[in-house]
Amino acid sequence: MMNEEEVVDSFSALGQDHLFDCWADWDEHKKSILLEELASLDLRLLASLQKCLLEKEVPPSLSPIPYLSHDDIIKMEKERELGRELICRGKAAFLTVAGGQGSRLRFKGPKGLFPISPIKKHSLLQIFAEKVLAAEIHYRVPLFWYILTSPANHLEIVNYFRKNNFFGLAEERVSFFLQRLNPSLSPSGKLLLNPAGTILKNPDGHGGVIGALTQDGLLTDMVKLGIEELFYFQVDNPLVNIPDPLFLGVHRSMGAEVSSKVISKISADEKLGSIGLVNGRAGVIEYSDLNEESKYLRDKDGNLSFLQGSIAVHLFNVAFLARTDLVLPFHQARKKEVALIPGSNGCNVKEVEVIKFEKFIFDIIPLADKVVFYETLRVDEFAPLKNMSGVDSIETCARGYIEKYALWLEECGIEVPRDEEGKSIYPVEISPLYALNKEILKKKLSHTVNRIDGQALFI
Ligand code: UTP
Repeated sequence: MMNEEEVVDSFSALGQDHLFDCWADWDEHKKSILLEELASLDLRLLASLQKCLLEKEVPPSLSPIPYLSHDDIIKMEKERELGRELICRGKAAFLTVAGGQGSRLRFKGPKGLFPISPIKKHSLLQIFAEKVLAAEIHYRVPLFWYILTSPANHLEIVNYFRKNNFFGLAEERVSFFLQRLNPSLSPSGKLLLNPAGTILKNPDGHGGVIGALTQDGLLTDMVKLGIEELFYFQVDNPLVNIPDPLFLGVHRSMGAEVSSKVISKISADEKLGSIGLVNGRAGVIEYSDLNEESKYLRDKDGNLSFLQGSIAVHLFNVAFLARTDLVLPFHQARKKEVALIPGSNGCNVKEVEVIKFEKFIFDIIPLADKVVFYETLRVDEFAPLKNMSGVDSIETCARGYIEKYALWLEECGIEVPRDEEGKSIYPVEISPLYALNKEILKKKLSHTVNRIDGQALFI
């Protein structure tokens, strides 16, 4: 461990001596906290973030990429059977990233606790927990669930599970693990202090989940438990279909290291990352990185060439994730943050521009040698909760929830009253514990309800 002088000297030598400019006003305890933090700061990480700041982004070469269409996928019975068998043998587990700040939703508390289901007002995490439990019951197998949290929401999420008795799941099969933080930098590459006098940091992005899984020994645990594949999904999409035996069977039979679900974008302007060949490798191109020409490009049939967008639902092969050479790049975002800034009249808290560095999970795709893009339907699987109002909001997410299950009912031969726009008039909610999928619902409903009575239907 370095002593005070060594820390001050080494950070001064790195051009970071401004960190000590406020010390005249600080007591020994406050100083020692910062010194300890600096002594354990990963200097290689700091150097790579600073290097990133200097790099000029070269626009990638983009071309369209084939994907498996929904029409072809639903005929794949052999693959569905393979997927079922793998689930029954405990070969698949679940991975949820819930470490985000959820700043756009402006909900007081972790986003996973947001009560989104339209009738019962179950939270996102409760919905997923019930899907995992329903899968354990249906496939008669213990299943494991790994949840990425952040230092800001970890305790609240863990306590929520405890308070609710893990929603019936076995506590020892639910693992919470913490995402790491990256130092935020000034545009000129300087570390900054937050108002409390410690280093200003930000969560390292959903792509940070790979490093956290590795560093916490969870990938090794998975191998010991015989887990070979991970269903990855984000905490904000309650419609996600898990576990999906057909998805798993297709992924395995094609020998994929990564498989990703995609949907047709509503229009060229929809803000979804598009799949494509990026510098010759399969990948996802962020909405803002798709150049104008590619965005509106059409094929000979008149369809958008970059029509398919990623919904951030993936399958990862565990042996692939355990490879030691998986290094995801950093993405930079400029944000306003409050920081402690030294000035002529002492140190003051000011809003300043900072650069945040994050990793994105879809950057793992180009690192895989075998990738499958798998088309699914928006109504079945995608209604993200991002904003308070407008697109991808509380209203559209709850509406997506209703429409998914209204369609399930209709496919079971049940009449759903709809308005002129074709929307279900009444809220509909089907608990995963009643029916994990459409097939189960069909069997259960063959003798019971055949229309929605009253104002709502919860089953
Ligand atoms: P978003 O990029 O939509 O961010 O995350 P967010 O934090 O939920 O919301 P905003 O942008 O602050 O409004 C997509 C998914 O990735 C997770 C989120 O929890 C969500 O499930 N995530 C994001 C992390 O786990 N860690 C991160 O650092 C960022």
